[in-house]
Amino acid sequence: MNVRPPLGLKSPLRIPHKLLMGPGPSNSSPRILNALSQPILGHMHSELFDKLHFFQIMDEIKKGIQYVFQTNNQLTLAISASGHAGMEAVLCNLLEPHDVVLILINGIWGERAANLAERYGAIVRKLVKTALGSNFSIIEIENAVKIHQPKLLFVVQGESSTGIYQPIIGIGEITRRYNCLLVVDTVASLGAVPFLMDKWKVDAAYSGSQKIIGAPPGLAPISFNERALKTIANRKTPIPVYFWDITLLGQQWNCFERSAPRLYHHTTSATLLYGLREGLAVIADEGLEQVIKRHQHCAAQLYEGIEALGMQLYVDEEHKRLPSVTTIKVPDGVDWRKVTEYAMKRYKLEISGGLGPTAGKVFRVGIMGYNATQENIVFVLDVLKEALKHSVTSSKL
Ligand code: GLV
Repeated sequence: MNVRPPLGLKSPLRIPHKLLMGPGPSNSSPRILNALSQPILGHMHSELFDKLHFFQIMDEIKKGIQYVFQTNNQLTLAISASGHAGMEAVLCNLLEPHDVVLILINGIWGERAANLAERYGAIVRKLVKTALGSNFSIIEIENAVKIHQPKLLFVVQGESSTGIYQPIIGIGEITRRYNCLLVVDTVASLGAVPFLMDKWKVDAAYSGSQKIIGAPPGLAPISFNERALKTIANRKTPIPVYFWDITLLGQQWNCFERSAPRLYHHTTSATLLYGLREGLAVIADEGLEQVIKRHQHCAAQLYEGIEALGMQLYVDEEHKRLPSVTTIKVPDGVDWRKVTEYAMKRYKLEISGGLGPTAGKVFRVGIMGYNATQENIVFVLDVLKEALKHSVTSSKL
């Protein structure tokens, strides 16, 4: 053989501890890390194999996802890919060529949804917030739905690129009135703000395992209600991607209450599912309301500290801010890259720069899951203060 074993693979992997206070992933708790090192089970292991079997773990995960989404939807499961795949899966299942989709855009994730919807052949209409740093009013949303008459309205509850929180309450009444589906992206928001899927008449929603749930990246909790399922059943064209086909995935996750054996669709990662199970269990133990409160308290503490440092928050009004991702304006005369590099090199602390429309303009501090503690906020503020002093490029500061 001519290709030699790579030298880099000769020593075992050793990862230094870093505190991940960016927009995700967040650090997993010791309980979750411990779950990740449990023995691997076969993805089709049933009670015939053992008392604690893989299907039982999948059922517990399903219940945990129903809890965090506050839904009784039977078609609730975890997609084997990151939160982004949740976006791909809802659009792929619900859209057909020439369907009109209306997308609310106040950051990169709305833009991304528009890109994906176009790839599935949909006619994309956009409602764009040009004044970045603001969210959409119910009146703006209703007017846009009235004008465009879409089959599907896509909304991001928490825009991690801009730090904007979009309230969902009231939108479901509009989409029902106009016979339209409501899809909500909760990747960066679930667990930091309330999300009442059934009560708010949301037809499909998804999230990510790696943010507030605190499990590793690689799984996307997802849920569809009966209305969404009916839309899928009435499709004139097949669901274009086998891997995202929710009718098949639903059979693997036993969502249709049939006595038929579970379908083998693909090999799920037992390890990642253990992590997600524990992440959901930790939220259930603490209680969802308490988890939300903890994130909101930490966010309030961060806002106060940032203002005390003489810095400005990017989203002016507090009720429009996403507690899990805070965007902070980069002060004049400061090189944002130097600040984030300083924090990482000196303190192994991750603070991120902006993304998409906020690139170069903001820092992004994530407050997520296990990391949402008062001590971590104090630490971030201390490091930020020190890093700013070391990163001034002009005399304006
Ligand atoms: C990822 O979700 C990010 O906002 O950077």
